[in-house]
Amino acid sequence: MLHPKSTEITFKLNNGVQIPALGLGTASPRERAQETKQAIKAAIKAGYRHIDTAWFYRTEPYIGEALKELLENDDIRREDIFVTSKVWPSNWNHVSESLDLSLHDLGLDYVDLYLQHWPLCFQRANDEKDGIHGIKGIPVNEEGEAVLENGADWIETYKQLEKIYLDKKDKRVRAIGVSNFPTNHLKRVIKECEVKPALNQVEIHPHLPQLELKEFCDEQNILLTAYSPMGSSGAPIIKLPLVQELSEKYKVTANDIVISYNIRKGIVVIPRSLNPVRIAGCIEFAPLTEKEIDQLDSIGIKDPIRYIDEFFATSIPGFTGTKK
Ligand SMILES: NC(=O)c1ccc[n+]([C@@H]2O[C@H](COP(=O)([O-])OP(=O)(O)OC[C@H]3O[C@@H](n4cnc5c(N)ncnc54)[C@H](OP(=O)(O)O)[C@@H]3O)[C@@H](O)[C@H]2O)c1
Repeated sequence: MLHPKSTEITFKLNNGVQIPALGLGTASPRERAQETKQAIKAAIKAGYRHIDTAWFYRTEPYIGEALKELLENDDIRREDIFVTSKVWPSNWNHVSESLDLSLHDLGLDYVDLYLQHWPLCFQRANDEKDGIHGIKGIPVNEEGEAVLENGADWIETYKQLEKIYLDKKDKRVRAIGVSNFPTNHLKRVIKECEVKPALNQVEIHPHLPQLELKEFCDEQNILLTAYSPMGSSGAPIIKLPLVQELSEKYKVTANDIVISYNIRKGIVVIPRSLNPVRIAGCIEFAPLTEKEIDQLDSIGIKDPIRYIDEFFATSIPGFTGTKK
């Protein structure tokens, strides 16, 4: 049976906006950030139509350079691509300003999806030397802990996102959502805000299937995006024997199996790569059976592993709890 490529599959957000199921992640190591430009060009050439970025990644200017050339050469039209960006906890109370900076760097008038990166409020500190747009990314105290803003409430950030989204004259975002939100945080947003998040971006892969969160999001019509689908740097998920076995069975790459595992479950997936050959080699969709998906899920049910265990996330109730 013929199947579409993973790059051709789209899902619908709860406000009707279509989102391509496969996007290119761009949280590359800082010293390699500029290679993001050629990665974006390779991805668009390979058929990707979705780019995931954030103020914090320092890759937005390079994505902007790539998009400028692609748009000028008529390789793509703006409306054919889906761009996600995010507001970082240092900008928790400066959402509109942070969005403008992202748009400026990306060279765009709007992003398709704008996310609250974490349910946290960092104390805002200037850092002309090493900051992002002069603002410190993660303020740290002498004990090495992230400095949270006293008395600040993370829901304020979502309310600022919502204000931008609801303003009919403001065309800077087509949809809004969140990232790294456990179920209880989502429940609070649903209770206290007007706009239900369109999507929650969290770590998902066979070692962390997040089945309870998925069930809740399905009930609420909130889409999930799987970040770090390969287990982040070193791609440990690719090496799982079952992933290798399925890659042989379906005659696709191991990356394709991990991507298809998510898409098959209705989860958007955003692998990162700076390697043009790998980028082009991750677009075949494997029609995994329900049994195979259950077998992949069982890996994480038995042995949950969270690869992105940020030190500042410990203050989020319900966030940690799996071993590394
Ligand atoms: N919202 C959040 O808080 C959050 C957190 C983390 C990530 N994200 C998003 O999710 C994206 C993806 O997550 P991620 O960047 O952590 O990592 P990932 O996609 O899980 O893994 C990427 C790494 O795996 C390597 N890799 C992939 N396939 C490989 C293979 N077959 N053999 C060897 N190496 C392989 C890539 O190297 P090459 O470059 O050589 O291909 C790259 O270093 C991020 O870029 C970002 O956009 C969001």
